[in-house]
Amino acid sequence: MRRITIAAMGAVVALGLAACSGSGAGGGSGAGDGESVDPADLTVGVAMPTQTSERWIADGDAVKAGLEEAGYKVDLQFAGDDIPTQQQQIDQMITKGADLLILASIDGTALATQLQAAADANIPVIAYDRLIRDSENVDFYVTFDNYKVGVQQATSLLVGLGLLNADGSAGDATGPFNIELFAGSLDDNNAHFFFQGAMDTLKEYIDAGTLVVKSGQTDIEQAATLRWLQETAQKRMEDLLTSTYSDGSKVQGVLSPYDGLSRGILTALQNAGYGPAIADGMPIVTGQDAEIASVKLINDDVQFSTIFKDTRKLADQAVLSAQSFLAGEEPEANDTESYDNGVKVVPSFLLDSDIVYKDNIQSLLIDSGYWTEDQVASGQA
Ligand code: BGC
Repeated sequence: MRRITIAAMGAVVALGLAACSGSGAGGGSGAGDGESVDPADLTVGVAMPTQTSERWIADGDAVKAGLEEAGYKVDLQFAGDDIPTQQQQIDQMITKGADLLILASIDGTALATQLQAAADANIPVIAYDRLIRDSENVDFYVTFDNYKVGVQQATSLLVGLGLLNADGSAGDATGPFNIELFAGSLDDNNAHFFFQGAMDTLKEYIDAGTLVVKSGQTDIEQAATLRWLQETAQKRMEDLLTSTYSDGSKVQGVLSPYDGLSRGILTALQNAGYGPAIADGMPIVTGQDAEIASVKLINDDVQFSTIFKDTRKLADQAVLSAQSFLAGEEPEANDTESYDNGVKVVPSFLLDSDIVYKDNIQSLLIDSGYWTEDQVASGQA
């Protein structure tokens, strides 16, 4: 259905452009300049951060497929999590005459120069998943409700510990439980939203002494993981186990904001003799992205939860927003308050996310066609 909708939108855009007298939202090739523009004459530059995490590959592929289906040419680039590479890729997209940019930044504060160049060339910019900060020249933002993702991560930790039931009612457990906290990369605006949502949710339990962050490391700066690297999280978990838990005490829960980090954390725990499964004393470890390796671990009772953000829906939203700009219109926002990038509040379209536990892998991930049963069993995409 969705594919048909996008294809149909492509036709509408083509017609709209043929008829429209233009209001100047377009870039290099003159979309919206009053001439009739065939989508085939328009190029969209798509910059993704890295191919080391499967979500960004899926995002890149889905955005490209959706744009191509709508008739546009696409220049898709991945930057290997290297900031200068991403800056260069975007510079090149602009030089080559891109008509619109869709950008998932590595460092949200590092693209102001590129965005100025885009604005000078009249090229609309859509920030994809991660907000681009410190620039006037971000026209739109498509993402998930990132604060809510953090709330969901903390909620799943509380459910795993038995302090809450999955329906939100109070659980039977009383604690106190030792927990540790991990956050994402500080240069990624999302990391702050995830951590804030999580901490606001955990606060009452920490204040009551039901949850104890035994290391005392409760600031995002202490919990952060530069570039979201699995090895970095594994190393920090190893250090925490040595510094804080060599007195015979046990850690019972770990807030992790991304499946890659969760797997590093689980490896450190396993190497220290925890588990292998939750029933054997593996702590409750959360996650994000429903990466296939982690979905298998959840299915095997090793990781407790993850957050499913349907990247297919995000890609569709990016394509619809691109089509609006290229037709000389403003895309539809559903949030005009949450995402202040330091210079302005960027109009945004936020999508919903879901908590994945073992018992809803089938309904959320398999029935929706995100992963197959075989993929979940093997842990391989
Ligand atoms: C994304 C997450 C992802 C993380 C690491 C964040 O900006 O929103 O989905 O887990 O980056 O790639």
